[in-house]
Amino acid sequence: MSGNTDLIEALQTLEEEALQAVASAAESDQLEALRIQYLGRREGRISGILRGLGGLSPKERPAVGAEANRVKARVQEALEARIASLEAGSGADDIGDVDLTMPGALPWRGGRHPVTQVIDELWAIFRSLGFTRARGPEVETDWYNFVALNTPLDHPAVDEADTLYLKNGLLLRTHTSPVQIRIMEAHEPPIRIIAPGMVYRRDTPDATHTPGFFQLEGLVVDEGITFIDFKATLAEFARRFWGPGTEVRFRPGFFPFTEPSAEVDVKRVITLPDGTTEETDWLEIMGAGMVDPAVLENVGYDSERYTGFAFGMGPARIAALKYGVRDIRVFFENDIRFLNQFAQP
Ligand code: PHE
Repeated sequence: MSGNTDLIEALQTLEEEALQAVASAAESDQLEALRIQYLGRREGRISGILRGLGGLSPKERPAVGAEANRVKARVQEALEARIASLEAGSGADDIGDVDLTMPGALPWRGGRHPVTQVIDELWAIFRSLGFTRARGPEVETDWYNFVALNTPLDHPAVDEADTLYLKNGLLLRTHTSPVQIRIMEAHEPPIRIIAPGMVYRRDTPDATHTPGFFQLEGLVVDEGITFIDFKATLAEFARRFWGPGTEVRFRPGFFPFTEPSAEVDVKRVITLPDGTTEETDWLEIMGAGMVDPAVLENVGYDSERYTGFAFGMGPARIAALKYGVRDIRVFFENDIRFLNQFAQP
């Protein structure tokens, strides 16, 4: 066997070994070590073999030299390919023009609507006063929306000019008061509920009216409920919602289903940025009153035994007062730029 063939075999063994090592390397550090080990100019094992060329005859040298160059090129190529595939696989070494110091773009998150936030606050206060939550349908009958509530069908509120009628004599409820009737029909006293929900009226939208809006109904019925309970409960609510300095005023009003009826106003004490305080004007926040005995009789209650009070307020109006919103239509437009201001973390 000539020295020529020995060296060529040694080169081919080395080639196989190097290619296997490159293929199983998992990190660029390992690949760099392999490059030095096989291709390094001084220590490299291929260079070592080439150093043995001196012992060969001039006729044998070119074939061994050519084979050495082929093996070198092959190993070099395998190393480069492996480096490229590791970088592509990790993705981390090549992120292009991304500036890692920039703040990240947070995913869009929904939030509770400002009116829903107010309803939840109102609900939390009434819950702590012993109320439970009730609901009723938005599509109602004359009976629940008007007649049982002591509102005769010739009352102006019943007119098509105010009420949105559907087919079959059904209508969109014009207030949440029909929930009073549904709850009383289904339960015996004591009753202490609040019922938030949407109501509908045939109104032209303007800064203070929308054809659909929220109401929050309250009803308390039991033995021995008096006007004192009525005033004290609503005053307590107002102080919890608007702060301890809040004054409450009950103005005489009229609703067919309450007697006496009242419009409830609050006067708030607000703290200005400089720390001084200022009283607001009187703001109307709800309609209310003692449940009319005729309504109690309509649901089969004994009006000699039971008395109660009821109230209805508009959470969008309360949200508008709370946030200084001058046009309540913005609550229904769902413009993300408006709603975003009320986003909660
Ligand atoms: N339902 C009345 C309205 O829509 C409000 C109200 C509720 C008044 C309960 C008295 C008692 O204006």
